[in-house]
Amino acid sequence: MKKIIVTGGLGYIGSHTVVELMSAGYEPVIVDDLSNSSIKILKQLQKITGKTPAFHQLDLSSPDQVAKLLLLEKSISGIIHFAAFKAVGESVGRPLKYYKNNFYSLINLLDQLGAEVPFVFSSSCTVYGEPDSLPVSESAIVKQAESPYGNTKQVAEEILKDLVAAEPERKVIALRYFNPVGAHHTALIGELPIGVPQNLVPFITQTAIGKREQLTVFGNDYHTKDGSCIRDYIHVVDLAKAHVAAIQYMELPDFNGYDVFNIGTGKGYTVLEVINTFEEVNNLILNYQIGPRRNGDIERIWGNVDKSSKLMAWEAELQLETMLSSSWQWEKYMKDNF
Ligand code: UD1
Repeated sequence: MKKIIVTGGLGYIGSHTVVELMSAGYEPVIVDDLSNSSIKILKQLQKITGKTPAFHQLDLSSPDQVAKLLLLEKSISGIIHFAAFKAVGESVGRPLKYYKNNFYSLINLLDQLGAEVPFVFSSSCTVYGEPDSLPVSESAIVKQAESPYGNTKQVAEEILKDLVAAEPERKVIALRYFNPVGAHHTALIGELPIGVPQNLVPFITQTAIGKREQLTVFGNDYHTKDGSCIRDYIHVVDLAKAHVAAIQYMELPDFNGYDVFNIGTGKGYTVLEVINTFEEVNNLILNYQIGPRRNGDIERIWGNVDKSSKLMAWEAELQLETMLSSSWQWEKYMKDNF
């Protein structure tokens, strides 16, 4: 079986990717420092797949720990690198925390892994800023990052591109995610937000379950059909499958170099549409109010996903309804189990 290292494999997207790798016949090896994840997820993965994946608790920002990992795990067929800090607001207040962690771990891995090991990097549609035209495609210009977090994604893409230019035998793909939401259909894994969620869907589910009193819609005076912002929400299971597709694409004999793909559904929904759909599919009423705009928010973004469908034969399958019903099932499961 082909061994794939999944850094951040106990996190939200990482854990779902571990499940999809297993069902595609790969042997995922999880590396996680547990800084933003729970060891309990390992048990949950066992419940879903019937197997317990190998796990190493390591801090990849230390070169010695990366060396230790590579001593323990030989014959690696690929690496999917999720491990990174991702809170936009925190990154503004603590930029060095973000630059140190996100860059050191990326550089240590690239430095010590063989050039022949295919590498998948978690990037974000945040690199597009407010796009000039929609749907935004991979060839759109990358805008000045709004935060140190966004900058770590942009600069990481540059690092990868420079490395592949110098070493053309490398195989590297950056996936630019749109807005990941939803949870596994078993409701055994999902997003585990620490503290007050900054993202829309976890805030919705926490409000619905009574952990938060009220959701605030950040602005209803944007130039959209109902005045609230538009995003391309993608089910985390579809997103996880995109990582398997990227690994498989790099296994093709004629693939080499660096490429970048949008990973979204290609459809945009407003915040109010998300709220209404959540209420409808789960048959409940959400307590929300309209508030002021949030600083730095993009008005409208959704992706052109033709390239991933054409080249990697990957397409999102799950609809907004499934995203929001699975998020709710997971919130209820978490209440009793986490
Ligand atoms: C945010 C980050 C982005 C990051 C992404 C990761 C910002 C400005 N952007 O994107 O860099 O890559 O998360 O998932 O933080 N909303 C509300 N009320 C809430 C929360 C959100 O109305 O309580 C709205 C937002 O204004 C936005 C939409 O919901 O229109 C989605 O917000 P969010 O989930 O935070 O994602 P992004 O802003 O797209």
